[in-house]
Amino acid sequence: MDVLVVALYLRFVCAVFAVDLSHIETFVQENRYCLKQRYRPLYHISAAHAWTNHPSAFVYYKRQYHIFYQYHPYNGAWGPISWGHAVSDNLVDWTFYPPALIPGELYDKHGCLSGSGIAHNGYLVLFYTGNAVSDNATLQTQNVAISTDGIVFQKYIYNPVIRDGAFGAEDSRNPKVWRFRNVWYMLLTNTREGVGRLLLYTSMDLFNWKLNGTLALSLGDTGYAWESPDLIEIDGQHVLMLCLQGVPSDGFRFKNLYQTGYIVTNFNYVNGQFDDLEVSTATFTELDHGHDFYAPKTVLAVDGRRLLIGWLGMWESHFKESKHGWASMLTIVREMKLTPQGRLLMPPVREVAELRTEILEDAWYNPGEAFYAGTRTFELIVSTAKVFYDVAVIFEWDGDQQYTVGYSADRGHIIVDRGGVDGLRRADWAPNDKLKLRIFVDYSSIEVFCGSGDVVFSSRVYPKKNIRVKISGESQLHVVQYKLRRSVGYDSKLRKYLKEHVLERA
Ligand SMILES: *[C@@H]1O[C@H](CO)[C@@H](O)[C@H](O)[C@H]1NC(C)=O
Ligand SMILES: *[C@@H]1O[C@H](CO)[C@@H](O)[C@H](O)[C@H]1NC(C)=O
Repeated sequence: MDVLVVALYLRFVCAVFAVDLSHIETFVQENRYCLKQRYRPLYHISAAHAWTNHPSAFVYYKRQYHIFYQYHPYNGAWGPISWGHAVSDNLVDWTFYPPALIPGELYDKHGCLSGSGIAHNGYLVLFYTGNAVSDNATLQTQNVAISTDGIVFQKYIYNPVIRDGAFGAEDSRNPKVWRFRNVWYMLLTNTREGVGRLLLYTSMDLFNWKLNGTLALSLGDTGYAWESPDLIEIDGQHVLMLCLQGVPSDGFRFKNLYQTGYIVTNFNYVNGQFDDLEVSTATFTELDHGHDFYAPKTVLAVDGRRLLIGWLGMWESHFKESKHGWASMLTIVREMKLTPQGRLLMPPVREVAELRTEILEDAWYNPGEAFYAGTRTFELIVSTAKVFYDVAVIFEWDGDQQYTVGYSADRGHIIVDRGGVDGLRRADWAPNDKLKLRIFVDYSSIEVFCGSGDVVFSSRVYPKKNIRVKISGESQLHVVQYKLRRSVGYDSKLRKYLKEHVLERA
């Protein structure tokens, strides 16, 4: 069945069986008070209410960027999960849209887990994992939902489109769908008896899927489970992205509970296999070296850039903001670039410069000097023309709390240290001609971009009051500080449109 036929059919079905729009009604009545909760960011995407985790899909549709994310609207903890939704024209100003998917069908009653989305023939099509638990067994199936306006999504009536796959329906999730020539491809991860599998499905029409084969297995040293796969192409090279669970830390590698990383490889569309794929800790490179980064999603921008957004959080960690009724956020959008040596760089998307409202500081600082940030939403650009000296920038707050960013020229590495038992993170880094750090602080997050995104650290921090910035090390540093504005929120025109055109017509 063609997507067009299905969508027309759905429209007919919707006319006969009323679509449940109660979540849109709720959305229209939501109040904005929640955006003032303690530690809440101003320019990072975080659901308007309660809990946010992984991005669910990142799609360019009808000249706008759509981000969907895992959203539990009732309290600051994970629960049967919906897909929250935010839309942007420029990758930095995001408007909340009504949730796109709400659990409720038999196959997704315990949650609509992450997947992916595509724009095709004027439709925005979402692929997601339905989570259903019964008698201690978890059933995970793959499902489709369609929208003609990017606002209201209709679940396909013949869901699930992949019921149990070849290896059982437990822990089978995160469909990533893309098109090559006239075939639709889907990557899916499946875990059974402690072995993670990467599966490939193909389809001619987006609804009927056939298992093509197993592309990789975690039989080596890459953990007991895999999730959130992605396959992207940058400058003619294929990059497989994967999230691993169960890899023990090894020095400064794999320090977080779960890992997100990539392998540069080549996918062969002729036989539906990778030419040279070896999934092992030797070939797997972590994407972000901070404490809080997981399960990213990518999109191909209209100008050909490959963009990424991730979860700025980690499982089984304490979210201090939960007791204030909300939790967690996504990273800022980053651009992915591949060096000739096969390393991924991840600088912030250039549009973040549009967040700057005023220059708060632009001066050279000597080691030992300090200043007050004056705001908790800022960008700091720290640079020096020489790369032979050790330098450090120390953020201090609430008396005894610190977050240190330190570069060691001798050892050729950069560290961040947020204190506590497991506060230290380290990565090799050799800046070529100039040392440059771009640091983004947004109430309870800090993202450190080294050089051209050569090394990135994303972490949560919880300053209650003003932050003091201290320069340390052996060299003078040039410091530029910009105040950044709020860029995520409600749009009253959208609410009016929903009231007048979606709810009243229904
Ligand atoms: C579910 O698991 C719990 C705890 O392991 C066990 O006590 C219970 O009997 C199980 N129920 C079923 C239906 O298997
Ligand atoms: C898998 O896909 C490839 C490429 O599309 C195709 O050549 C191959 O026949 C497929 N295999 C199966 C078992 O469907």
